[in-house]
Amino acid sequence: MSDKKATLTIDGREEAVELPIYSGTLGPDVVDVGGLTSQGMFTYDPGFVSTASCESQITYIDGGQGILLHRGYPIDQLAEHSDYLETCYLLLYGELPTAAEKEAFVGTVHLHTMVHEQIRTFFNGFRRDAHPMAIMCGVVGALSAFYHDSLDISDEKHRQIAAFRLIAKMPTLAAMSYKFSVGQPFMYPDNDLSYAENFLHMMFGNPCEPSNVSPVLARAMDRIFLLHADHEQNASTSTVRLAGSSGANPFACIAAGIAALWGPSHGGANEAVLEMLEEIGDVSRIDEFVARAKDKDDPFRLMGFGHRVYKNFDPRAKVMKEAADDVLAELGITDDPLLEIAKRLEEIALSDDYFIEKKLYPNVDFYSGIILKAIGIPTSMFTVIFAVGRTVGWIAHWNEMISGSYRIGRPRQLYTGYAQRDFVPLEKR
Ligand code: SDX
Repeated sequence: MSDKKATLTIDGREEAVELPIYSGTLGPDVVDVGGLTSQGMFTYDPGFVSTASCESQITYIDGGQGILLHRGYPIDQLAEHSDYLETCYLLLYGELPTAAEKEAFVGTVHLHTMVHEQIRTFFNGFRRDAHPMAIMCGVVGALSAFYHDSLDISDEKHRQIAAFRLIAKMPTLAAMSYKFSVGQPFMYPDNDLSYAENFLHMMFGNPCEPSNVSPVLARAMDRIFLLHADHEQNASTSTVRLAGSSGANPFACIAAGIAALWGPSHGGANEAVLEMLEEIGDVSRIDEFVARAKDKDDPFRLMGFGHRVYKNFDPRAKVMKEAADDVLAELGITDDPLLEIAKRLEEIALSDDYFIEKKLYPNVDFYSGIILKAIGIPTSMFTVIFAVGRTVGWIAHWNEMISGSYRIGRPRQLYTGYAQRDFVPLEKR
């Protein structure tokens, strides 16, 4: 905190209002506007463009510099040297684990990878062609029915086991939502496999053959999970915090986060990027789509481009682009047409004044779909993959809030409706 202050002079008021200013470790100072209520005023910031909703120590983003730090460690270093479960430990506990701590953490995750057998029948309530994100919203929320009574969110141990259950069960439920859609039997987790190997085993394995997961694909899958792990107070994380602020069950809070992530402006963009690249179909049509993206009368946007915070390259997109080249090369895919279209689209967009002026760069979703498609993940599962990776971020923020002092989130509004008026009886309308 600091002893700096902002002084607000308000037309028609003699007294200026002094508001405290706080400084963080990195990033902009914040003005504490809590005192405005006693002045009979609110702040007004639709979309929370200039609003810090909380204090946090988990992730820092510098949108101008294209910097992303998880507990101080740059994302590109974690992507190169770490793995998903180690990054989960870092996000949850604030430090990289020792070898013994990592072994214990991974071992505990393995103890929670199965879901209650009753959940299997829950899937039968869905149509086979249900979108996997619709299924995930339902089945993750349903987990609260299995743990509601045994979960005291004020108890640190209860919060910790909820974190393990969610991190461990999300891949199992995600794979089940895929298997259900293709009418294949659910695969049980194999705890001899790594987190990403286990997910691919449950996705593409079958009970008639031994599991055979490519280490190349498993490494690519693990890096995808890692790159999606957390991203400060984005829409879905803010949703989880708001839901959690009422004291709701953490499984219900994560289900709320999944619902928020589904939107095409957020996590749903990775699915929309693939659909867009497939609709473009050939590099010769790129100019047509770039023109549409610039046309204010056309609702079309270049999916995978732009970001509320990054006004420079999204560092995850850079890692993802390199990974796309690596994975395709390792798989012997030398001329993936969609990757060619994506790279050409990026070149054209980044040299176009409209995108330069509005600082629209590729974001995390622009290249991820290329890798997911190469791994064999169907497009409809792309946002589910995002949700699996982001679960640890949602839980880390939920736990940071619940373990500290917090109040129920309750924003106010600028009311522009009718002033009070009397009821009009039906016969007089
Ligand atoms: C994620 O917040 C996070 O951290 C999210 C995320 C995470 O890890 O949690 O990073 C994950 O959600 C990434 C974003 C994925 N979404 C997309 O790729 C969808 C396409 N992008 C956009 O819809 C948009 O860029 C947003 C939603 C990402 C950001 O929206 P903002 O911050 O509200 O910006 P805006 O809509 O006000 O756009 C500013 C201007 C507008 O033009 P003007 O009204 O000023 O003339 O830029 C234009 C927009 O029309 N614009 C685009 C564009 N994105 C913004 N024009 C064409 N194509 C685009 N993609």
